[in-house]
Amino acid sequence: MLEANRMKRLPLYLFTIMDDLKMKAKGKGLDVVDLGMGNPDLPSPPHVVEEMARAVKDVENHRYSRPFGSVERRLRKAIADWYAQRFGVQLDPETEVLPLIGSKEGIAHLALAFMNNDDIGLVPNPSYPPHANSIIIAGGILYNIPIGPENDFKPNFKTLSREVVRMSKIFHLSYPHNPTGACVGLDFYQEVVDWAKNKDLIVSSDLAYSDIVFNGYKAPSLLQAKGAKEGKCIEFHSCSKSYNMAGWRIGWAVGNAQILRSLEKTKSYIDFGIFPAIQQAAVAALSGPQDYVKQLVETYRSRLEYFVKGLNELGWHVAMPRGTFYIWAHIPPKFSGLTSLEFAQLLVDEAGVVVAPGTGFGEYGEGYIRFAVVQPEARLKVALGQIKKVLSISS
Ligand SMILES: Cc1ncc(COP(=O)(O)O)c(C=O)c1O
Repeated sequence: MLEANRMKRLPLYLFTIMDDLKMKAKGKGLDVVDLGMGNPDLPSPPHVVEEMARAVKDVENHRYSRPFGSVERRLRKAIADWYAQRFGVQLDPETEVLPLIGSKEGIAHLALAFMNNDDIGLVPNPSYPPHANSIIIAGGILYNIPIGPENDFKPNFKTLSREVVRMSKIFHLSYPHNPTGACVGLDFYQEVVDWAKNKDLIVSSDLAYSDIVFNGYKAPSLLQAKGAKEGKCIEFHSCSKSYNMAGWRIGWAVGNAQILRSLEKTKSYIDFGIFPAIQQAAVAALSGPQDYVKQLVETYRSRLEYFVKGLNELGWHVAMPRGTFYIWAHIPPKFSGLTSLEFAQLLVDEAGVVVAPGTGFGEYGEGYIRFAVVQPEARLKVALGQIKKVLSISS
């Protein structure tokens, strides 16, 4: 009742509904396979866990983190080195790198730092929900740019009206894309950067899935585009997906120093940074051996191929993504009378298979559901068997 109006403007959080349904399905005795949330199931790298175990015993790490303490400086440098090595992008660790308590935290605070009440946030739809929700929480106006297979899930920003562009403050992009698995080449970023030049607009890229890519595709960074570093561009990244460290809460933003300074200022009024032991562990992840990431990608690739093949064999036509661990699946024609939420409800009720309804990512996700292959192959097999039963319900 007392909730702020901006909170009332937020869309329903569909994962809560799915969680309730999951509990009910378990209560009914169904063998529930959860492919709903993009919550990695594999353990963090052993050398990172060891570093954490060591660091947690160091009393110095029990204190508040300070922006330029020794661990903090090492982390900033490790992030800059990782970017140089991975993308050939040179960053000043002191001014062009900002560690975050997970990239989600940074995305939310970016809006708080920059949005005025009548500013527009441009967000492709469907998208990872915090891109849109952060705009609403900050009191801004959300402007959805529909994306779909007809434009390879890329926003057609060039057709936005001059009025909309003039009022826009933040433009969110995120490839490899959650929930669709769509990917882009550097040429796309170049077009965005050229278009945004001389506009009062922050271009924000969320590169959380840069490492989860297959079959020779390499995900570029927005900052590789010519003029990006000189422009109003920033990029979010994280240890969550590349190193299975989702629960640890560590990520970062890189790019335009002035934007990062405002983001840091906003955060300084709200949080005290990241537990230093976690920062130390993140340094081990970023600068240690990277074969763990290769193995992880191989695991996701093999799970995706298995599940995509299985669904196609059931007559449910889905495509293998080039990036992410998601399958963006059109609701089978037989069920086209159902909304994506209703179909997701049916899958969990009848099959015990939890998925994310497409509309959890925005209204243009209607007609789709998203599978996250965050379960071992044996569980995917169980899911396929149970989905088969639902698909064979007579019309
Ligand atoms: C596109 C995207 N960005 C960011 C995140 C969250 O990252 P973090 O754990 O660093 O907050 C997710 C998590 O699912 C995501 O899908």
